[in-house]
Amino acid sequence: MNILRPTRENLDDVAVALLAGQHAILPTETVYGLAANAANEEAVRQIFALKGRPADNPLIVHVSSLKQAEGFVAELPESAHLLAEAFMPGPLTLVLPKRPEVSSIITGGLNTVAIRMPDHPACLGIMELGNLALAMPSANIFMGLSPTKVEMINTLLAEKVYAIVDGGACRFGIESTVIDLTGEPTILRPGSISREEIEAVLSREVRARGAGVRNSPGMYRRHYAPRTPCRIVASLGSDQPGLVLDRPSNSHQIQLPRDPAEYARQLYAAMAELDTHGLPEFGIVAPPEDGRWTAVWDRLSKATA
Ligand code: TXA
Ligand code: MG
Repeated sequence: MNILRPTRENLDDVAVALLAGQHAILPTETVYGLAANAANEEAVRQIFALKGRPADNPLIVHVSSLKQAEGFVAELPESAHLLAEAFMPGPLTLVLPKRPEVSSIITGGLNTVAIRMPDHPACLGIMELGNLALAMPSANIFMGLSPTKVEMINTLLAEKVYAIVDGGACRFGIESTVIDLTGEPTILRPGSISREEIEAVLSREVRARGAGVRNSPGMYRRHYAPRTPCRIVASLGSDQPGLVLDRPSNSHQIQLPRDPAEYARQLYAAMAELDTHGLPEFGIVAPPEDGRWTAVWDRLSKATA
């Protein structure tokens, strides 16, 4: 396993490997990603095999500038410019009409492409040094927890890539907000950038995927799940394992903060930690229901589905 510190020399080295068609696991501000050069169809194709991911689940193209995004996107609507100005780089992914030359391997056969500019110096540095865009899903095995620190990366996956760049713990801890801008703006996956923040920037209402709104490929009911079966509970007994909001009452309880951003940052690592305890199941004490917790609730319902 080749774990590299994000020095300029190492970033250069990884950029060269990516340009040669190899894969790397890179830090972003959301979760770690499994990167391939977006312009190398064979390398992109291998991502699906490495993760065990179905071919119809499209990948996000990561860019280091809007100029680079223009190489993938047929047109940038006004809404995209507004959101880019407000939130890029950052944990927001825009689904836009694709250019004909963008590989259907990346888009899962759709006529749209998802674009994101990650807010992480190592990831941006590699893209700039190699002058390359990256096809990069979360660096987990299909359905599993996305890694938010290097220790969480599946060793089988880690051994198959050229290198892992260690950028420390991810700042946001859950995957980016995905918004479809090809029609009425619609949030396909909630994330750290909220619907309200997006509505404020666009000065209009934004729909959230749900009743009556079409589904996007790659949105599964169960996803982002620990190996241990888990369920949401109102409270946990003093002998029961799980994630709690108050002080833990046994060594199999992990306390998560009552702030939604802090909770999200720690959630996957806490579930991964409980996975190492070899428990038959664990409970997750329900966090508050208000809108600030939408992204957390999305991940909790996927983990417990
Ligand atoms: O925070 C993130 O977005 C992380 C980091 C590594 O950047 N990446 C990530 O990628 O979560 P992935 O592949 O695990 O999830 C991408 C999601 C999938 O649910 C996929 O269906 C959706 O984005 N997506 C990608 N392209 C799409 C498209 N053209 N239309 C609709 N949804 C799309
Ligand atoms: Mg993923």
